[in-house]
Amino acid sequence: MTTTMKTLLTGGLVVSPQDVQAADVRLDGETILEVGQLTPHEGETVLDCTGMLVMPGGIESHCHLDLECGPELTTADDFATGTRSALAGGTTTVIDFATQFHGQSLAQGLARWHEKAAGKAVTDYAFHLAMTQWQPSFATELADMVAEGVTSFKLYLAYRHSMMVEDDEVFAALTASAALGTTIGFHCENGRIIDALTQREVAAGHTGAYYHQMAHPPELERESLVRLGAIADLVGADHYIVHLSAAATAAEVRAARARGSRLVAETCPQYLVLDNTAYGQPRAPLPGEEDGEELAARIAVMSPPLRAAADQEALWAALADGTLSFVGTDHCSFTLEQKAAAADFAAVPNGAPGLELRLALLHSFGVVPGRISRSRFVEVASTNAARYFGLHPRKGELAPGSDADVVVFDPQARWTVSHDLLHDAAGHTPYAGLQLTGRVRDVFRGGHHMVRGAELVADPPPGRFVRCELPSPVDVTKHPLASDEGGDVGFVPERLGLTARTPTL
Ligand code: URP
Ligand code: ZN
Repeated sequence: MTTTMKTLLTGGLVVSPQDVQAADVRLDGETILEVGQLTPHEGETVLDCTGMLVMPGGIESHCHLDLECGPELTTADDFATGTRSALAGGTTTVIDFATQFHGQSLAQGLARWHEKAAGKAVTDYAFHLAMTQWQPSFATELADMVAEGVTSFKLYLAYRHSMMVEDDEVFAALTASAALGTTIGFHCENGRIIDALTQREVAAGHTGAYYHQMAHPPELERESLVRLGAIADLVGADHYIVHLSAAATAAEVRAARARGSRLVAETCPQYLVLDNTAYGQPRAPLPGEEDGEELAARIAVMSPPLRAAADQEALWAALADGTLSFVGTDHCSFTLEQKAAAADFAAVPNGAPGLELRLALLHSFGVVPGRISRSRFVEVASTNAARYFGLHPRKGELAPGSDADVVVFDPQARWTVSHDLLHDAAGHTPYAGLQLTGRVRDVFRGGHHMVRGAELVADPPPGRFVRCELPSPVDVTKHPLASDEGGDVGFVPERLGLTARTPTL
């Protein structure tokens, strides 16, 4: 059973992008009623949050649930399992990639994703619309999507022969998007050169998962971001890079933002926490479940691949200084059986699970060692995605009138990751064995108390589709320049192009 009655969360530290303050939060049904020094009302439920961080529910900017990746290959997680996992980890809204497959209209792609999510998702959910090609008719279809509450799109510069688009398609799409004020996220890797490198490795007998990284070097991420940036700057279009993985690409983002490009960047926990030692040693094994080393390496087959350990520190610095604006997981889960079935690295399904661990990983490896402040943690895990994708202030904020999506986070809890503690359907996690500090204790979504004492309730009620709005101009004077703990800075409008979409990130 869950409840949407009045609830008072007392004694916690309320964390926002602006500050950290000892305060109480009162929920009234589906919304937040007040935040401050509050006394309990007769009859209301009181939850003691002493020693806890109280923060807005996490916003997942990047996940793939129930995604068909081939004729007989669909992700392990659908909206039921994926969003249970998200919720248990403190994410109350997921923005999934509804996908337009070749020959479909955008409306057909969106309608299919509504069918996949409705009644199954237990978080609230919104959609980006991923386009696997560009058609002239899409220029008007983009406007139809805005009317349907979809204001962000995606194009792939990788995955040649399935989803990759060419530069002229990028130009046409950005032109149409800029006219509407929508944004497009880009998978930045050069798909043509990935193909050439893959063929070279396989021809040399290099078929093991180790060689996936050889076919996806960081130069190809940097190259495609720079190419994309030139086109987007020409058009003056909002654009963002999904799952940025490498130090060199982060440096390009920093430079582009400094010169006023309308560019925002997302990274993922796997690039902040894991590294390419996960691919093991060079080998050309026989595929198969019996080969444990190869299977372990296949778990880490994702695109872009895991990078060198040295890249991690650069990404943390970029997250702290505002070069990177939010953290999504790119949760795209496959079972070990699905990973094992491929004949060589090039055929291994790309992707890994991660939805449930996003907040705990950011806290453990970001806040605890002092790489980011608590305010920045909240900003990159929740508020900035809400701002950028037009969900704010309904989401990403603990303020009167905002949705009662609240996470009570225990910053002292120590635990070790193992898949039995998680709720996704992958059956494995690339983070197994990591020791974490910080864990989600309670989660309210729309006022429903859905995680209690780190346990997901048995019958979580379904989530709602939430519309993304186009951003409206922001009064930058309302936002303080520095975040709570003086270290990193969460908001520096002068450093950014003062566009309607980017000034608060
Ligand atoms: O390996 C990945 N990332 N798979 C999911 C699809 C994508 O590239 O985002
Ligand atoms: Zn993805």
